[in-house]
Amino acid sequence: MDALHLTLLILCSLSLVYSLSPNCEATSQGSTLRVYHVSSPCSPFRVKTSLSWEESVLQMQADDTTRLNYLTSLVAGRSFVPIGSGRQIIQSPTYIVKVNIGTPPQSLLMALDTSTDTALVPCAGCVGCSSTTFDSAKSVSFLSLACGTDQCKQVQSTSCLGTTCSMNMTYGATSIVASLARDNITLATDSVFGYPFGCIQKATGGSFPPQGVLGLGRGPSSFVSQSKTLYQSTFSYCLPSFKSSNFSGTLRLGTNGQPKNIRYTPLLVNPKKTSLYYVNLIGMKVGSKIVNIPPSALAFNPNNGGGTIIDSGTVFTRLVDGAYTAVRDEFRRRMGKAVVSSLGGFDTCYTVPILKQVPTMTFMFPGVNMSLTQDNFLIHSTFGSTTCLAMSASAAFNVIANMQQQNHRILYDIPNSRVGISREVCS
Ligand SMILES: *[C@@H]1O[C@H](CO)[C@@H](O)[C@H](O)[C@H]1NC(C)=O
Ligand SMILES: *[C@@H]1O[C@H](CO)[C@@H](O)[C@H](O)[C@H]1NC(C)=O
Ligand SMILES: *[C@@H]1O[C@H](CO)[C@@H](O)[C@H](O)[C@H]1NC(C)=O
Ligand SMILES: *[C@@H]1O[C@H](CO)[C@@H](O)[C@H](O)[C@H]1NC(C)=O
Repeated sequence: MDALHLTLLILCSLSLVYSLSPNCEATSQGSTLRVYHVSSPCSPFRVKTSLSWEESVLQMQADDTTRLNYLTSLVAGRSFVPIGSGRQIIQSPTYIVKVNIGTPPQSLLMALDTSTDTALVPCAGCVGCSSTTFDSAKSVSFLSLACGTDQCKQVQSTSCLGTTCSMNMTYGATSIVASLARDNITLATDSVFGYPFGCIQKATGGSFPPQGVLGLGRGPSSFVSQSKTLYQSTFSYCLPSFKSSNFSGTLRLGTNGQPKNIRYTPLLVNPKKTSLYYVNLIGMKVGSKIVNIPPSALAFNPNNGGGTIIDSGTVFTRLVDGAYTAVRDEFRRRMGKAVVSSLGGFDTCYTVPILKQVPTMTFMFPGVNMSLTQDNFLIHSTFGSTTCLAMSASAAFNVIANMQQQNHRILYDIPNSRVGISREVCS
């Protein structure tokens, strides 16, 4: 065989391999970007584990607990002591998009985080960051932000280290030291010029997402606020199921192309924590029955952070004790005599087939009833022998997590202070 044919053969084999991992090359169109799960076949952060199903569920719960501690620290406005488990935690937050930073553009994958404002980018030379970093020396539009500038004051957790605007913060269980910088950032076709972000120099504690974080919170330094003239502080996403092998959803920026027939519920503002998306959860249904939940478990309370947030980074929904117990008891009642077991933080698991009896579940908000299918609240072991209700109790506030949001379009319309929710199968 001559060299040309050999080359052709290799190219053909390569394209065959490529076509086997579906949609990885599906291009982003206009202001609509592909969103991948961090363990997707398309994700370079995919970790091949030898964990059993039980172990991987327990690990996801542990990661979620770390996430919850992080959210609690945001709500309470205090930082908490890092847990420093030393384990590499990748599940939280779980969805990534491709982002270009600098001139000429450097491509990075970043995690979507609707509860964080300032973006955090692993920069070249960072101690404790893994995988790809952004090399600021290769970007002609990169600027370090000086201490005392307006942007430095706008971003939380900044302080002056000499003349540099420096950030010392905890993210999940990781302590981060970063310097505040600005550069162009491009998600879709248009660039946001001089976008401020934390250029990470040091990460300790082992749980920082290796891909960095794109902050989609509501605060002034978030991407949503910084790209306001381009995208009118409006975006939506559809998160693919993490069970699906296709694993590609969409992040849509701006008002163009957003669904017209979508029902909205108002966003609530907690003046003590302006970055979080609070919604008013007024009740829950199991099947057609409205569960009797004590109103205090759902009440919005800016003083102690109580109420309900919608978060892209938590995996499993958390409900305040009284709400969780009521929902779980009604769910168990519907399962009849099937014997209940527990797995880690999940206390409602079954080792017998139950799927035929499983009712729908509905989150009720003013203006929208968000109906969940089994895939949004049940997890199954690989061979289907164990099934758990994938929700658990939390102390301070309720979190509508990403498993429950999968295969829904969630539209954040900040100028009108509302969030739209509709079912959309994106994987
Ligand atoms: C970056 O922003 C500057 C203006 O600050 C602009 O001149 C340059 O073209 C931008 N680069 C890219 C890649 O958009
Ligand atoms: C950040 O924290 C490190 C270690 O805890 C400390 O050495 C450093 O001085 C802090 N930087 C600022 C700007 O507070
Ligand atoms: C993957 O996507 C293709 C179309 O793009 C669809 O036909 C197929 O059913 C999907 N597979 C899964 C497991 O969702
Ligand atoms: C949600 O469901 C409840 C109870 O079934 C019903 O009373 C209410 O009108 C529904 N809300 C919307 C917005 O459809």
